Amino acid sequence: MAKKKATSRAASTRVQLPPAEVRYAEELTALSASDSAPRPEGWALSPQAVVDFICGSDGVKVGKTKAGARVITEKFVGPRDIVQRCVVTLAGERGLMLVGEPGTAKSMLGELLAVAISGTGSLAVQGTAGTTEDQIRYGWNYAMLLDRGPVREALVPSPVMTAMRDGKVVRFEEITRCLPEVQDALISILSERRLMIPEMDQAGDGEGNSIFAAPGFAMIATANLRDRGVSEMSAALKRRFNFETIAPIADEVRERELVSTRAAALLAETGSPVAVDQSLIELLVTVFRDLRSGRSDEGWQVTRPSTVMSTAEAVAVATAITRESVFFPSGFDPVSRMPGHLLGVVMKDEAKDRERLLAYWDGPVRRRAEDGGPLWKRLVELRGDLEE
Ligand SMILES: Nc1ncnc2c1ncn2[C@@H]1O[C@H](COP(=O)(O)OP(=O)(O)OP(=O)(O)O)[C@@H](O)[C@H]1O
Ligand SMILES: [Mg+2]
Repeated sequence: MAKKKATSRAASTRVQLPPAEVRYAEELTALSASDSAPRPEGWALSPQAVVDFICGSDGVKVGKTKAGARVITEKFVGPRDIVQRCVVTLAGERGLMLVGEPGTAKSMLGELLAVAISGTGSLAVQGTAGTTEDQIRYGWNYAMLLDRGPVREALVPSPVMTAMRDGKVVRFEEITRCLPEVQDALISILSERRLMIPEMDQAGDGEGNSIFAAPGFAMIATANLRDRGVSEMSAALKRRFNFETIAPIADEVRERELVSTRAAALLAETGSPVAVDQSLIELLVTVFRDLRSGRSDEGWQVTRPSTVMSTAEAVAVATAITRESVFFPSGFDPVSRMPGHLLGVVMKDEAKDRERLLAYWDGPVRRRAEDGGPLWKRLVELRGDLEE
C-alpha cells in the first residue's frame, strides 16, 4: 500500500521537460567542484567553465572525486568562439542579443548561458504583441496598494526586476515581437542598471525609489529574423546589446548526429526508448539541408520553399516518425512517412511551396534514384503523397 502511494506521488511530480538546471544538475556540480578559475562577481562558474558546460569537455572527465567526475556533454552544436564571445559580453555592461533564423537553438543557448552563470534559466520574459511595460518593470498587488499605499511589499516584480535585485541573468525571448515603445523600457535599465519606481516617491517610507542591479545581472535577448525585424528596434536600444548571429549547423555529420541523439533523447524522456533508424536520419537531414540551402551536395540547384527548414523541425519529424514506429510496429516503413511530414513542414505560408517540393522531387530526388540510391527510389515511388 505504502509502495503504491510512493509510486503515484512520483508519477504526479514528473514533468514533461524539467528545466535545464535540473536536467544538468550533476554536470553543473562536477564543473563547479573542479572550477578553480576566478569567477566574475555574482557568477556561479568561471567563464571557461560556462563555455565547457555548453560546448562540452571533449570526452574529458571533470570533477574532484572519482564518484563526482563526469564528462560534460556538448549541448549547443556550433563554434566554440561564438559561445566564448557571448560569455564575455555577459560579463560586461552590454546585453547579449542572439539573432537568427527560427530553430537554430537561440533560446536553448540563452537558457544554458543563464543556467551556467546564474544557476537558473527561469527568469524570463516572453515577448509578444501584447507584452506591456509592467511585464518588463513591475506591477502592483492592488489590494495591498489600496490598503498600504505604494510600499515595497505591494510591488509585483517582473523577472527583470528580480534578476536586477538578485544579480542574475534574465532572458527576454522574441524581443522584436514587442512594440518598440515597450522594448524601450529596457534602455534605462541596461544603461543605468537601475529601475526607478516613481510611485514610491510619495510613500515617504525611507526605502528609496529605485532597485539597483546587483553584480551578476545581465540580459540575454533573442530575436527571430523571420518575425518583425530587428530593424524596427530603436537605435538607442540596439546600441545597448552586442549582437551574435546564430546560423544553422554548418557540418552535415554533426547535424545528423544531433537530430539522431535529440530524437532518441526526446523519445526516452517520454518513456519510449527506441533505436532511431539511421538511414532515415541520413535521408531526412540531406533533404532538409538541400531545401534550406537551395543547393544539393552534387551542386544541383534547388528551389527553396518559403518556410525555414530548421534543425528543430528535422528533430520533430525524426521523433514523430520513430514514435509512430513504436505505436504501430507491424510492417512499418519509416521512409514512407517522410513525404507527409515534409509537406507538413513546408506548407505553412504559401501554396506554392507544394510545387517547390514537387520540383525538388522531380530534380535531385529523381536523379539520385537514377544513380541507384534505394531509399531515393522509394521516395520517387511516394511522389503521389505530395500531390493535392
Ligand atoms: N546548433 C544546435 N545545437 C543544438 N541543438 C540545436 C541546434 N540547432 C537546433 N537545435 C535543436 O533545435 C531545438 C530548438 O531550438 P530553439 O527553440 O532554442 O531554437 P530557436 O532558435 O530559439 O527557435 P525560434 O526562433 O523558433 O524560437 C533545440 O532544442 C535543439 O534540439
Ligand atoms: Mg526561441
